[in-house]
Amino acid sequence: MGRIYLIGFMGSGKTTYGKLMAQKLKMDFFDLDDYIENKYSKPINKLFEEWGEEKFRIAERACLHDIPVSKNCLIATGGGTPCFFENMEYMNQHGETIYLRTSVRELRDRLKLSSTKRPLLFNKSQKELEAHIAQMLKKREGFYLKSRYILDTDDLNPNNLISAYKALREI
Ligand code: S3P
Repeated sequence: MGRIYLIGFMGSGKTTYGKLMAQKLKMDFFDLDDYIENKYSKPINKLFEEWGEEKFRIAERACLHDIPVSKNCLIATGGGTPCFFENMEYMNQHGETIYLRTSVRELRDRLKLSSTKRPLLFNKSQKELEAHIAQMLKKREGFYLKSRYILDTDDLNPNNLISAYKALREI
């Protein structure tokens, strides 16, 4: 099967769907954010606070390159990973990239509950959240769309996940 990278905005389900997909496809699962947190022994929001975004992105790229992946593995990346340096090209060269495309409205609903854990969404009122997501997604989607496959997640669920993935590969 090789290596699969899941790409997408915060809240697009990279970790949730990634774990499920890996289990069903009998692949190992790696989460890039978890790897970064373990390597530096601090949560992502602390790293952002201490380093600022620029240094975080440098560390993120280093981790993308040195994460000890196995032959058959699925990697959930961070929402910003594809948008910095040559990370998208690196992932396309080393595996199959899948963009978990999600509408702004759906992202807003999913992120409402977890925005306090995500440094780039701190201090956003519920009202501001949707506009902020729309604005960030507009800047980022060009990178996400460099993925080899696109999987729309608004109607995705644990039952149709694998058939939706297999359908993509048959097109
Ligand atoms: C980020 C997304 C986060 C994490 C960091 C930055 C981003 O990962 O890497 O907070 O720039 O979109 P998730 O997409 O897993 O939330």
